[in-house]
Amino acid sequence: MVLMYGLLTLEGQDSAESTLHSTLASRDFWNWSWDELVTYDLPAVFDFVFNQTGQKIHYIGHSQGTLIGLASFSEGHQAGKLKSAVFLSPIAYLSHMTTALGVVAAKAFVGEITTLLGIAEFNPKGKEVTVFLNSLCNYPGVDCYDLLNALTGSNNCCLNLSTANIFLKNEPQSTATKNMVHFAQTVRDGVLAKYNYGRPDYNVMHYGEDTPPLYNISNIPHDLPIFMSYGGLDALSDVQDVQLLLDHLKFHDVGKLTVQYIKNYAHADFIMGISAKDIVYNQVVQFFKNHQ
Ligand SMILES: *[C@@H]1O[C@H](CO)[C@@H](O)[C@H](O)[C@H]1NC(C)=O
Ligand SMILES: *[C@@H]1O[C@H](CO)[C@@H](O)[C@H](O)[C@H]1NC(C)=O
Ligand SMILES: *[C@@H]1O[C@H](CO)[C@@H](O)[C@H](O)[C@H]1NC(C)=O
Ligand SMILES: *[C@@H]1O[C@H](CO)[C@@H](O)[C@H](O)[C@H]1NC(C)=O
Repeated sequence: MVLMYGLLTLEGQDSAESTLHSTLASRDFWNWSWDELVTYDLPAVFDFVFNQTGQKIHYIGHSQGTLIGLASFSEGHQAGKLKSAVFLSPIAYLSHMTTALGVVAAKAFVGEITTLLGIAEFNPKGKEVTVFLNSLCNYPGVDCYDLLNALTGSNNCCLNLSTANIFLKNEPQSTATKNMVHFAQTVRDGVLAKYNYGRPDYNVMHYGEDTPPLYNISNIPHDLPIFMSYGGLDALSDVQDVQLLLDHLKFHDVGKLTVQYIKNYAHADFIMGISAKDIVYNQVVQFFKNHQ
């Protein structure tokens, strides 16, 4: 059983069904960050699949899907249900992120946390967010004409234009503003921590401590088979940040961690690159076969 999760930072929970919220008001519905994906969403999906199939799960995450997986596995939420994990364009530490829009947005989110929290749903196609994004697009170095590049860095190696256009018809989608703020904190603080409520007393209220608890990647079970693939041109999953992530996995059992580096790959190449099947997916399938 293989489960895929993730995509770009701005991808939320926006299939037609999941935005139809009949019982919650909008501000409650969108009151989540990736902490909730780690604690509730991913475990619920695992429980459901495990329950239906009775089989342990091979997990594949891309981008946000790697962050959720890494954090969730480090907290032990999938104990007994996970067979192996594949992380493509891993995102955990984001201090070296170079995508122009990402950097500017991160600064803006941290700075404008109070005004933005007035809008619970961060819908890139909605009016308030469009105004906000347009203001970011005026920063030097940010070229929003090419949105995919502005978000993920230049994917000039292997993208098929018509595939990229199909992608951009559906993405980016809504996410929670709180999720964007949490990502901005991850960029700013350089650590993998739970959502920071911005004031020590609020953090105490939520966590019993005045700073948010850290996720400890070193606690991922050391015998979990992991395949990690990252690209040399990836502006979101920067090579230096991946090195930091690998450093946290240095206690992993020898032979259980396979790392692939693809020099000319950027963020979207892992899901849309015309050579992804040959270069990435064939290795992933082989990895799964080796860990049945
Ligand atoms: C969001 O949920 C938290 C609990 O997780 C709660 O403390 C907070 O008041 C909620 N915020 C809003 C705006 O509803
Ligand atoms: C799945 O859940 C249902 C009800 O929660 C339970 O009756 C059933 O035995 C479970 N199936 C498996 C394979 O765990
Ligand atoms: C690009 O995508 C289109 C539409 O899916 C397809 O017909 C075409 O063969 C693709 N080109 C390459 C080089 O893969
Ligand atoms: C993280 O967990 C490892 C053991 O898995 C431990 O050695 C290390 O001290 C922990 N780090 C923090 C910051 O708690």
